[in-house]
Amino acid sequence: MSLASNYTAWKKLQSIYDTKRSELVLKQLFAADPQRFAKFSKTYHSTVGPETTFLLDYSKNLITEDVLSTLFSLAREAGVEKTRDAMFSGAHINTSEDRAVLHIALRDIAPSENWGIQEAGANEVKEVLAHIKNFTDKVRSGEWTGYTGKRITTIVNIGIGGSDLGPVMVTEALKPYAHPDLTAHFVSNIDGTHLAETVKLCDPETTLFIVASKTFTTQETITNAESARSWFLATAKDKAHVAKHFVALSTNAKAVSAFGISTDNMFKFWDWVGGRYSLWSAIGLSIALVIGYENFEQLLLGAHGMDRHFKETPLENNLPVILALIGIWYNDFYGSQTHALLPYDQYLHKFADYFQQGDMESNGKFITKDGNRVDYQTGPIIWGASGTNGQHSFYQLVHQGTKLIPADFIAPATTHNPHVGDVSSKHHRILLSNFFAQPEALAFGKTEEEVKKELGAGASEALIKSKVFEGNRPSNSILFPLLTPNALGALIALYEHKIFTQGVIWGINSFDQMGVELGKVLAKNILAQLNKPEDVTGHDSSTTGLIHQYQSWRKE
Ligand code: F6P
Repeated sequence: MSLASNYTAWKKLQSIYDTKRSELVLKQLFAADPQRFAKFSKTYHSTVGPETTFLLDYSKNLITEDVLSTLFSLAREAGVEKTRDAMFSGAHINTSEDRAVLHIALRDIAPSENWGIQEAGANEVKEVLAHIKNFTDKVRSGEWTGYTGKRITTIVNIGIGGSDLGPVMVTEALKPYAHPDLTAHFVSNIDGTHLAETVKLCDPETTLFIVASKTFTTQETITNAESARSWFLATAKDKAHVAKHFVALSTNAKAVSAFGISTDNMFKFWDWVGGRYSLWSAIGLSIALVIGYENFEQLLLGAHGMDRHFKETPLENNLPVILALIGIWYNDFYGSQTHALLPYDQYLHKFADYFQQGDMESNGKFITKDGNRVDYQTGPIIWGASGTNGQHSFYQLVHQGTKLIPADFIAPATTHNPHVGDVSSKHHRILLSNFFAQPEALAFGKTEEEVKKELGAGASEALIKSKVFEGNRPSNSILFPLLTPNALGALIALYEHKIFTQGVIWGINSFDQMGVELGKVLAKNILAQLNKPEDVTGHDSSTTGLIHQYQSWRKE
């Protein structure tokens, strides 16, 4: 496998950037071509489930047809289609762990077709979904009760990383579909405060704990789960009652049994489901409990529709591929370090947090699959917040700072809350006016002449200069009718496949996460030394000094 920088198309892109960059000015590009929006926007229509559609407008990017066609050549040269097909066939494209990458199989549940994947476990997906349906129906209807016969009113998902972020993001995003009498909490942090503050809101008689861990060995999750069990038993007393209040989501049946959870109450998944791609698996149990199984299935079908689009659509019309390539253009040629995700929908307020793991754990790598160090940038820093809050916080830097920050603006055309108090339509129109205005301001800015005219005679040079917006700052806009389970599924899958495509081009393995290991090992070693100052050995003077200070100050 070659380094991306050796590809002919990569070199051509470098030469376009070096020689033609000054021509890539949005104001001029739009003025020169009235068809630019038509040319550089695409509408997605789902072929699965209820009508789901969205518009991707990528015309406000620093691209021309020449740039784009060279980017598509890059994708072909890097073998994006071949690797995509390998993923869909169940090949072990996670080479370092010798695993298939089959989150796409978890949502391959449309009756008409399926990918026909042979990997062990792929044929059990529907069985596990039936288990999820059966259980969630019982809990939601009140048939499943706690040890005193009361119905479950509170669920607490205990998990971290992919076993937390997806369920958190989706249950927030789909709140309009939530069961009115079921409250969901999520505990992830090893900081005891997280669990302590959560159980203050829970009644042991009516709370169900969901221990979500692919490996069932993650220190944070197992420690939190053990403490939750102690908290529960302090009231319930009898260990037999644990069965009514604790279920597990895992690939590790042995560890689940050892914890004391019956495997009847274990919802399984498989090693080919990566943590950050696991919300579609049993890890989504909390989602199904909150929004109901039928809505959970719509989420899966929405993603499946995008899977089909990604698999079957030529690169030039393939939305995830387009997003990926434009991202590479900024990341690797313009030197952009970050990418902002800016949903104009309060329900999507966890979207950027979710894709911080989704993107940065996938593509934050400097070694290619065949062990070479890259000589280019790989995954960007992902960040963002929901609009319009971000506008009153970091947008200053996005508009007038010294960094080029590509951004995706995401919004539904219709809100789930058109009436707020006795006010109709007002909030959402204001919100959307900002969704349209921000990309416009970023792209076209405000010239010195315009500022002078606005300020009139007598304005100081410094004031004039401070009010200039250089513009030419790129963005994508994604607009869809309504944030439904199906639309959300498609949106998440869109970004998953974007990340996949970029990883293939950079030649890295987007499906392992070796970078999280070293810190874990060091922490384990340090934990054993925390009791006494004389135990603290083998560290640099800074680490030793910090631990000694902690030991002298701590009171517990
Ligand atoms: O952060 C590392 C990681 O392995 C993630 O990839 C994963 O989502 C998370 O830990 C949790 O792992 P588990 O589900 O096995 O507890």
